[in-house]
Amino acid sequence: MKVLGIAGSLRHDSWNRKLLRAAADVLPSDAELEIWDGLKAVPPYDEDDDHDPAPAAIAQMREAIAGADAVLIATPEYNSSIPGQLKNALDWASRPLATNVLRNKPVAIVGASTGVFGAAWAQAELRKVLATTGARVLDDGVSVGRAPEQFDGSGRLVDLDIENSLLAVVEKLVDQARTRERARRRIAVAA
Ligand code: FNR
Repeated sequence: MKVLGIAGSLRHDSWNRKLLRAAADVLPSDAELEIWDGLKAVPPYDEDDDHDPAPAAIAQMREAIAGADAVLIATPEYNSSIPGQLKNALDWASRPLATNVLRNKPVAIVGASTGVFGAAWAQAELRKVLATTGARVLDDGVSVGRAPEQFDGSGRLVDLDIENSLLAVVEKLVDQARTRERARRRIAVAA
């Protein structure tokens, strides 16, 4: 069971990337989290460039999403919304709309910010964007507010309640991916 982790931040010491690593620590033992690091290489979306074959960075991103059983996105909040580069990448991922790699993909959203609300508005925006792509977005999220106070020196979460919320989200995400995989196998056998 492969979960692709996408941090919406390009920052080296991103709290959201730390949150993805914390999620990797609490994943069920039969699942692994691979953090995708191609966000900075994604060019600005231009419909004129969106053809077959896709630009290399886009092909790589689409392959990474398509090859994962589930996706976990940790988003920062920029001006009460999601960072532009994350939205730009999702716009690329969403085409062609009918067969896009996010369609029916189980996705969970978490977020960390330095503000008190833990990227809650960005998570809501991201949920809306992903729903439009046809992704199966979990209702539950995790909001890590005042992020610098929530991680110790080695990047581990210090608040047990936050860690438990993260555990609940990744367990649900992996469960949803397992259910989808079982359905896919049933359909393949029946065909
Ligand atoms: C922010 N930040 C921020 N935080 C927040 O809680 N609500 C907001 O609306 C914003 N807006 C915002 C805009 C811009 C342009 C920047 C650069 C930052 C602060 C943000 O939460 C903080 O920089 C996080 O640390 C970003 O996440 P990473 O990079 O640590 O993952």
